[in-house]
Amino acid sequence: MQTSNTQYSLVVLPGDGVGPEVMDSGLKILHEIGRLFGLTFNLKTKLVGGCSYDKYGTPITSETIEACSKADAVLLGAVGGPNWDSLPHDEKPETALLRLREDLALYSNFRPATVSKHLLQESPLRDEIIRDVDLIIVRELTGGIYFGLPKGYNEEKGWNTLVYKREEIVRIAHAAFQLAEQRKSVLTSVHKANVLDSSHFWKLIVHEIHASSYSHIHLSDMYVDNAAMQLVSHPSQFDVILTQNMFGDILSDIAATISGSLGMLPSASLGKEHALYEPVHGSAPDIAGKDVANPIGMITSIGMMFNYSLKLPKAGDLICRSIEDTLSRGYRTVDISRQNEKTSTTDEITTAIIESMNELFEMDGKTKQNSIERMNG
Ligand code: IPM
Ligand code: MN
Repeated sequence: MQTSNTQYSLVVLPGDGVGPEVMDSGLKILHEIGRLFGLTFNLKTKLVGGCSYDKYGTPITSETIEACSKADAVLLGAVGGPNWDSLPHDEKPETALLRLREDLALYSNFRPATVSKHLLQESPLRDEIIRDVDLIIVRELTGGIYFGLPKGYNEEKGWNTLVYKREEIVRIAHAAFQLAEQRKSVLTSVHKANVLDSSHFWKLIVHEIHASSYSHIHLSDMYVDNAAMQLVSHPSQFDVILTQNMFGDILSDIAATISGSLGMLPSASLGKEHALYEPVHGSAPDIAGKDVANPIGMITSIGMMFNYSLKLPKAGDLICRSIEDTLSRGYRTVDISRQNEKTSTTDEITTAIIESMNELFEMDGKTKQNSIERMNG
């Protein structure tokens, strides 16, 4: 067995709606990984979003942000819900996420979209269209129209500013090119350079970085409206998609149709010093508290944490393989099931993933033992 007795400190932010349920599942998986690999996790759980507003009058306290900034990684469930719809605009639960992204400088957001071979029939898209999809959207996360000033509204108008500074484009471009290098070396820069000045600037800078440091990567440009169409008509052409904050928000929801459900998709938000992992889905208040939410997006996000922050790809890989194995055994939450098919609760599918983890871990150990024996004669 691989043991390291390594300790990690994590901040856990379950949030609102289905957030606490999927986080519960994620933490069960985390503990199991800890047990199998000999790792210790020191967890600090904090309120974020609507629940934080209810207790402290703010969607995130400075103390929580401070704790996040000291952790090896942050895990987040989801924030928001109709209970807080009437709050002033700048106190809505979602602002907690935006503050975390900004204060921890989490400028690069990785949103992979793949499809399990066991779920090819669950997507609204045809099997032959999605079969070979393995793409990742690199969304710029701390700039663009989400954060640009001036912004505001009055009786007569509402306004936001879409601005990108050179250094913001440079750092996200490096992140995307470096990711493409580890994958198929194909990068699509998605923008609206035919209309927007900020996009024209984006396009130029991305080409500049490409020419100076990554000419071995195949770079192409695509307008965002076309990219939206291509994502559902020919998604397997993409490897890494690099795009600005708002376009990435929209395109990543479109990409979710490929995997069969928004509940499947994980994300990593990375900066130079900090990292946050959360499922792409929201708080889904309509199904909250019913033990039916799909925890796979959360669990895969934890897998990404092992790969990117904790540098334990064996643990990340075991999580991915266990999910595949569980799906192959027919376990389905309601969002990825067909009509009249038997469905599992959040808790049941989590237990099944843990079973798969133990089986696969044991098999890996035996394979390793066999190959050592073979080597020894
Ligand atoms: C996402 C969400 C957030 C966003 C909201 C909740 C602020 O939709 O992470 O995709 O728009 O970035
Ligand atoms: Mn979104």
